[in-house]
Amino acid sequence: MGRLEGKNAIVTGAAGGIGLETSILMAREGASVLLVDISKPALDKAIEQLHEHVPNASAIKLEPFVCDVSKEDNVKAMVEYVDAWGGVDVMFNNAGIMHANDADAIDTPEEIWDLTHDINVKGVWFGCKHAILSLRRHNKDKGSIINTASVVALVGSATPQLAYTASKGAVLALTRELAIVHAKEGTYDDSKDVKPNQLIATSGFRFNALCPAPLK
Ligand SMILES: NC(=O)c1ccc[n+]([C@@H]2O[C@H](COP(=O)([O-])OP(=O)(O)OC[C@H]3O[C@@H](n4cnc5c(N)ncnc54)[C@H](O)[C@@H]3O)[C@@H](O)[C@H]2O)c1
Repeated sequence: MGRLEGKNAIVTGAAGGIGLETSILMAREGASVLLVDISKPALDKAIEQLHEHVPNASAIKLEPFVCDVSKEDNVKAMVEYVDAWGGVDVMFNNAGIMHANDADAIDTPEEIWDLTHDINVKGVWFGCKHAILSLRRHNKDKGSIINTASVVALVGSATPQLAYTASKGAVLALTRELAIVHAKEGTYDDSKDVKPNQLIATSGFRFNALCPAPLK
């Protein structure tokens, strides 16, 4: 049995990099995975690679879904697509950009600031929002939502990339808040004498942020 046997996962930014590697690992652990990206040709290649790397691929669903995470109607449709599988259990809000024209406080163009925040922050918010709604719709007593921030959210960057750094700080901050707000969702029951620390460890909707350092 894989650790994600019977679970449904959505991975955004799944056509390459961290998203594709994560999709491969999740599928190896038995999850059905909806691979989401803005680029259809890149997604098709990713699905091919996935099938090469995953021996149990015939036992699970591995499907592409084209979505721009900065558009709420796209994100809603993406999460609702998985309703037919039984609803999402693991939502990996990983898609993100660092624009070549991102710069310092003086030279960052406002449109690059807005584009970066639309994808990196609003995209993560929409993913969290629709995952929560799906977990409730399917009466799930637990769910895992994982957001990709960055080490720059913690320490900044010596290379100017102000819009990106600010956006990842926002991802880390919103994840911390959602982790507290939704920790008790799903299985909270006043009639049971469950200590708060047990409750957080074993149930609820879990939110975590990743803060990777630079990767290839
Ligand atoms: N690579 C690193 O060194 C590093 C370090 C820290 C954090 N991160 C973060 O990790 C995440 C993944 O990074 P990666 O290095 O694997 O990047 P990547 O560029 O290989 O993958 C990102 C994917 O997101 C997709 N994407 C871009 N805009 C999108 C949109 N609007 N809607 C849907 N998909 C979209 C791209 O097409 C791409 O396939 C990002 O959030 C990135 O900021 C990366």
